[in-house]
Formats: sequence, structure tokens, C-alpha cells
Amino acid sequence: MKAIVQDEYGSSEVLKLREVDDPVAPDNGVLVRVHAASIHPGDWLLMMGQPYLFRPAFGLRRPRKRIPGFDFAGTVESTGKDATEFQPGDEVFGNANDGSCAEYVSVSEETVALKPANLTLEQAAVVAVSGVTALRGLRDAGKLKPGRHVLINGASGGIGTFAVQIAKALGAEVTGVCSTTNVEMVGSIGADHVIDYTQEDFTQGGKRYDVILDNVANHSLADCRRALNPDGILLTNNGTSGSRWVGPLGRMAAAALLSPFVRKQRPPFYAPVRKKDLLYLTELIEAGKVRPVIGSTFPLGETSDAMSQVGGGHARGKVAITVATGE
Ligand SMILES: NC(=O)c1ccc[n+]([C@@H]2O[C@H](COP(=O)([O-])OP(=O)(O)OC[C@H]3O[C@@H](n4cnc5c(N)ncnc54)[C@H](OP(=O)(O)O)[C@@H]3O)[C@@H](O)[C@H]2O)c1
Repeated sequence: MKAIVQDEYGSSEVLKLREVDDPVAPDNGVLVRVHAASIHPGDWLLMMGQPYLFRPAFGLRRPRKRIPGFDFAGTVESTGKDATEFQPGDEVFGNANDGSCAEYVSVSEETVALKPANLTLEQAAVVAVSGVTALRGLRDAGKLKPGRHVLINGASGGIGTFAVQIAKALGAEVTGVCSTTNVEMVGSIGADHVIDYTQEDFTQGGKRYDVILDNVANHSLADCRRALNPDGILLTNNGTSGSRWVGPLGRMAAAALLSPFVRKQRPPFYAPVRKKDLLYLTELIEAGKVRPVIGSTFPLGETSDAMSQVGGGHARGKVAITVATGE
């Protein structure tokens, strides 16, 4: 099959379109012919091998995960001997740990669900990582309830565009923070208030929030907490800040260490893709409450350009990669 492969760490020129061996369906899973994939900042970090402190886990000299991407949507080609849930021909979406920027992915049934009926395969391909992160952050870590006021810092990005819509679906009042060019888009997906960060610093105004989901890490934790009501909650969700060596570890460690003592501070949360969350998102999508926002789409052979865009930190909504074109 054709796949994007990286043999070394580095900027997006390390990504090459190549022929590699076709995977086979695992016993408990399915082989999926990929129609589209998507990438997010975590893929950019894995490509760069940053922060360097994580390299023992990523692969010391060269990346262990050689195909970028996790999210995909496509058609089931074959099933493993113990797989029970899917049939060849089913249209599915989900998370592929071995890399999704490829013509085929081999995945456990546990990280796959049937495609929402009202989405195209390209739209479904951008849902898993960002949708589940936004959901787990707001619903589980943030315990967001109807009537509470949530601020989403980084509302125009991959997680932010899902978070705005999920928060509205959970009945919250939503303030989104983004740059001038994205103010209209963030309002159009349901934010009740939009703050243009080039004009206003949400930590310095007098307004207080019940929950802050911080996807950006451009303010200190203390400044963010000051913008909360007395019983408010700060959700620290950022993997891309900090130096090349330690990345966000200092900020994450501070959040984790403070959380038992500082009521407003929650520890960082990690949201691996689970089937039950894909099914929950499917319900919201099919009810018309959540719609993926795709800011740009690249063909598989131009994944390096897509990755440069994601690495720039200002992607609008999600960045999709088309793999099969329906031939
Ligand atoms: N907890 C988890 O399990 C998990 C999973 C996946 C990702 N993450 C982390 O979540 C973070 C966000 O991911 P993402 O996919 O949403 O990233 P993204 O798509 O790159 O979006 C980043 C957003 O940040 C905004 N931004 C940049 N500078 C800003 C500023 N000064 N003030 C406010 N907003 C600003 C950008 O908005 P403008 O373009 O409008 O400037 C952009 O919309 C990443 O650090 C990633 O590592 C965590």
C-alpha cells in the first residue's frame, strides 16, 4: 500500500510517500481501506521527536511509529477471526495507533465505530482524537453542567471547535477565545460570546467563569485561575508549549502537584480514544448538535504541507488528509 513514512525525526521534509507492506486485520479487529485521515499537534510532536525527554518512549534514535496520523475513516475490507461487530463494506471511523496516513489501517474493534450517518467519510475522519479530548475534558474532568459558564481558550482549533459545540450540547453558556480571523466562525458554531485575543486578555477583564478549558497555555496557571469563580475549575490541556527538551512537562507537573491543594486546579487529563466516547459523539453528531469543522484538506502526497500547517499552531478547525478518492 501507499503510506506516508518517516525514517528519522525532523521537520515535515522527513515525511515521504512510499510503498510499504499491507497490514492484515488483527484477530480482534478489522482491516480498513482508508478514505481520509486527519492530523493534530500530537502528530507534529511525534514527527519532530519533541520534547526530547520523551524520546525513550517515542524511539531513541528514530521514531517507532513511522506512519503519522491517528484519526481515520474508511470502509472495512476484512475482519479478524475473533471480530464480531463489523462486516466488510461497513463505513467506520476511529483511531489507528500504527498510523492513519496510509491506504489501509489495521485496528482493534475497540477504537472503531460506525460512521455517523449524516457525515461524509472525510468529515468522520477528523472526529476521533479532538472530539474525544473535548468531550472527556468538559463532560468528565470538567463535570460541566447546564447553565455553567465555560471559557474555551483556543476555541478555533481542532479541540476548540468540538469543545464549543459539545459545551453547548451539555447546556453551558460558552465563551470562545480566538484570533480576529476566526471570531465569526467560532460564533457560527454556537459560542454565546467570542473574545478576540488580539484585543482582550480574558485573564485581565473582570469576567469570571465556572470552567476554563485551556488548549493554548499562553497565560500562567495562576492568571487562568484568577478568571474563575470561587468554585470554578481550570482544565489544563496543552501538549505543545514549553522548550524542545521538556515541552509542557513543567506546566503539567505544576498542575498535577497543585491539584490536591488548590481547589480550582485540576490535574492534566489524557483522553485515549474509546468506543463508548465515539458512540456518544455519534449521537451528538446525528442529533445535529456537533458538526466537524474542516479548515483545510490535503491529498495524501501533500501530508508534509498539512503537517507544517498544524505545526504553525493556528490551524482553523481540523486538517484533513484525503487518501482514497473513490476510484
Ligand atoms: N489531553 C489530551 O488527551 C490531548 C489530546 C490531543 C491534543 N492535546 C493538546 O491540546 C492542544 C490543542 O490541540 P488542538 O488540536 O486544538 O490544536 P490546534 O488545532 O493547533 O489549535 C490551536 C488553537 O490555538 C489557538 N491559539 C494560538 N495562539 C493563541 C492565543 N494566543 N490565544 C488563544 N488561542 C490561541 C489557535 O487559534 P487562532 O488560529 O485563532 O490563533 C488555534 O485555533 C495541543 O497542545 C495538544 O497537544 C491534548
